[in-house]
Amino acid sequence: MADVLLELSKNPWARKLVSSAKLPIPMPERLTRVSGARAERFLEGKNVLVSGAGGVLADAVARTLARAGAKALLDSAVLGDAFAPAAEAYGRPTKLLVPDELEPAPGQALVVDASGYSSATELKQLYTFVHQYLPRLARRGRVVILGQPPDEARSAPQAAARAALEGFTRSLAKELGSKGTTANLVYVAAGAEPRLPAVLRFLLSDASAFVTAQPLRVSAQSEWSGDDPWHKPLANKVALVTGAARGIGAATAEVLAAEGAHVVCLDRPEDDETLSSVTRAINGEALLCDVSDPHAASRIASELRRLHHGVDIVVHNAGITRDRTLGRMPESSWDQVLNINLDAVLRITDALIQENVLRDQGRIISLASISGIAGNTGQTNYAASKAGVIGFTRYLSAQLAPRGITVNAVAPGFIETRMTAAVPVVVREAGRRLSALGQGGLPEDVARAIAFFAEPGSAGVSGQVLRVCGGALLGA
Ligand code: NAI
Repeated sequence: MADVLLELSKNPWARKLVSSAKLPIPMPERLTRVSGARAERFLEGKNVLVSGAGGVLADAVARTLARAGAKALLDSAVLGDAFAPAAEAYGRPTKLLVPDELEPAPGQALVVDASGYSSATELKQLYTFVHQYLPRLARRGRVVILGQPPDEARSAPQAAARAALEGFTRSLAKELGSKGTTANLVYVAAGAEPRLPAVLRFLLSDASAFVTAQPLRVSAQSEWSGDDPWHKPLANKVALVTGAARGIGAATAEVLAAEGAHVVCLDRPEDDETLSSVTRAINGEALLCDVSDPHAASRIASELRRLHHGVDIVVHNAGITRDRTLGRMPESSWDQVLNINLDAVLRITDALIQENVLRDQGRIISLASISGIAGNTGQTNYAASKAGVIGFTRYLSAQLAPRGITVNAVAPGFIETRMTAAVPVVVREAGRRLSALGQGGLPEDVARAIAFFAEPGSAGVSGQVLRVCGGALLGA
């Protein structure tokens, strides 16, 4: 079901007309997205304005920007010294920021390394820098704030300054959403600094177009060899995607394949034809199986062993809704939703681990939902299943860390698929507009977040639940 407001916003005359009508909701900005494989130098020719002398993340930021081809404009000479080795290594000289020389342009970015802040008064630096340079972002920009985890602080003022970054970022994201600009926060634990680049790369790129107002944590919990390929990062990896015949699952299979993975696409036997067209297009394999079948888990494990001697990336995407308020909910709706959305995830993961099919440095990524975080009328079954997925994700991430396996969840907000096309029009419009970006996401937005978790370089991110929700107000 097309988003009429978003279609209108493509036309500058219609944009002007609708803006002058003073509707209570802003015209959404059309987002720029990645197509096919991600480019290594995705920031080529783009300005990234950097603040944060005294932070501990300058080296990781400098390397990421230089390798991505960005023009780094720094707010202090001290930062220039920290950036020098990377600038030299990648042949990307940095410049000092001269405010009057900088024209507003779409797609520019601000990065603030606030890891050096040790008291609330230092937050003023954040205000000053962002306040001054925000207008230069124009549209579809990126703001990334970097800090250290409040729970690792060594004093109360330091804990306060670190935690304040989250309130700042979430509010800024809400203010910037109508321009298609995102703002996100990354907390980097002590010792995890070299693991920042994969996260920064994702948040600065078009791959995260629908991710805003989110805090992510980078830790050194999982074993990591330092492997972080940028081009086709999933080459030589085997991925399993459940529910791959359509919607988010089909988009995920396509994106994982574009980034180099060989994808085994699973869906129900009755979806044979639809699934075959997905697998043909990506040169993958189809596995027809109903995940709610009691024998599904052992069958999946033995097929993956037979076909590929194991699996590297597992995406638990198959899911259903059977919405009814609890008093009116038939037992079958409870049972089906819990079985497919949660029990099957547990059974399949258990079989892959017990039968030693999931390889070291593997990736498990499950589909949660913002309903699983915030709850939703008519969805006690669905929200319980998705909250359960979050619990499973957090628990298992610690268990599998010694093997270098990360376990994460993606919690989509309103995504334009068959599932959301079926909801009543008023609920659908509310789902789209009650968010910072003022529009629904596309299946590929969720797929890009899954591909980010799947990368070898994302080893610093485990036990996380990333909302891909356009800054939805529900449960934010
Ligand atoms: P969809 O209905 O378009 O696709 C789901 C796929 O899962 C279908 O191909 C279906 O055949 C398959 N599937 C269902 N039951 C299965 C079973 N027993 N065995 C094997 N395959 C089965 O749904 P959509 O929107 O792409 O959702 C994908 C995932 O994302 C689900 O887990 C959903 O809960 C989650 N999600 C979706 C949101 C949205 O806005 N579309 C929001 C939040 C979460």
